[in-house]
Amino acid sequence: MKAVILVGGPGTRLQPLTDNLPKSMVPVLTVPVMEHTLAYLRNFGIEDVILTLNYLPDAIKDVLGDGSRCGVRLTYCMEDEPLGTAGAIKNTAEFLDGNTLVVLNGDIFTDLDISAMLEFHRKNAAKATISLNYVEDPSAFGVVEMDERQRVKAFIEKPPREEASSNWINAGTYILEPEVLDYVPEKQHYMFERGLYPDLLAKGEPVFGYKHRGYWLDMGTPGKYYTLNMDMLEGRYRSPATSALSGSGEHRHPEAVVEPTAHVFGTVIIDRAAYIGNKVTINGPSVIGSHCRLEEGSTVDASILWENATAGPGAHIDRCILSREVKVDANAHVSLQVISPERMKNLEL
Ligand code: GTP
Repeated sequence: MKAVILVGGPGTRLQPLTDNLPKSMVPVLTVPVMEHTLAYLRNFGIEDVILTLNYLPDAIKDVLGDGSRCGVRLTYCMEDEPLGTAGAIKNTAEFLDGNTLVVLNGDIFTDLDISAMLEFHRKNAAKATISLNYVEDPSAFGVVEMDERQRVKAFIEKPPREEASSNWINAGTYILEPEVLDYVPEKQHYMFERGLYPDLLAKGEPVFGYKHRGYWLDMGTPGKYYTLNMDMLEGRYRSPATSALSGSGEHRHPEAVVEPTAHVFGTVIIDRAAYIGNKVTINGPSVIGSHCRLEEGSTVDASILWENATAGPGAHIDRCILSREVKVDANAHVSLQVISPERMKNLEL
């Protein structure tokens, strides 16, 4: 089975982290999102993967190449204009082989069992199966209404909480029979939720919902991205791409330098060539990216620092996300902020 991953969106909600980097290349525990997704797919024996690109495509291709480093074969499919989620899949038609395919949103972290979902899809002779996640408050999501066999009856976008008829929401992983793409117009912006899926229901095609109650997180906002890192550091979610970093305590790269008077508490990743100066305190859960410098007497509390970030002497970084090259001045105190070299935003958790 081939997988197609949607990675073309501009990631507006994740700004400023996506100002110069596509969402799929944002590091999670120092490893780009897409490497986590590819490792996840490999666990199900899926090794042929098509990436649909639009925003900053070279930043993805330059890092992932032909995919061999991640144990997969990658094909890139470029859109000159964003084609929307269903339009992007239609655009990959020439690379599909006429078999059932799995479609993933590029920003979802989940322990959904794709093999079990495929079995459910086949048992029901579905044309499309949508993974569903249970939420207490579905008002911010696309709600899916089903009959007792889990055949989909309707899609309701963002219903008011008290009016929602189901707590099962579209979780962004789909199994599709290739013929459903006949319903998607060529080279036009077209979406699954507002386009293809309602069309399939109108035509009476069998669309089913597959219920999943495990881990599911859409890392599309800084708050969610922060939560994802914390969940992974604290073992609530494990990714095969970072299995070497799982478990509590300090994970120090052999090429990192930690001065003897520095203190590290809790679960902390200190990546390659990072420098942790004298009398620095790092409180986990935290990630100190490669080549970061924490100067003497600085403190980092529950924060995510991407590569080459610097804390000046005496600086205090508290529950922040610092993107590449960000410099926090000596003795400055930053709390609950998302900081890029150009701008800073409140981190809403
Ligand atoms: P926001 O701008 O913050 O909404 O993020 P986004 O651009 O990533 O959009 P959204 O989270 O709604 O998209 C879900 C998934 O679909 C993400 O993995 C996107 O990269 C992807 N995506 C959204 N629109 C397109 C598109 O037009 N083409 C392609 N190839 N992928 C898309």
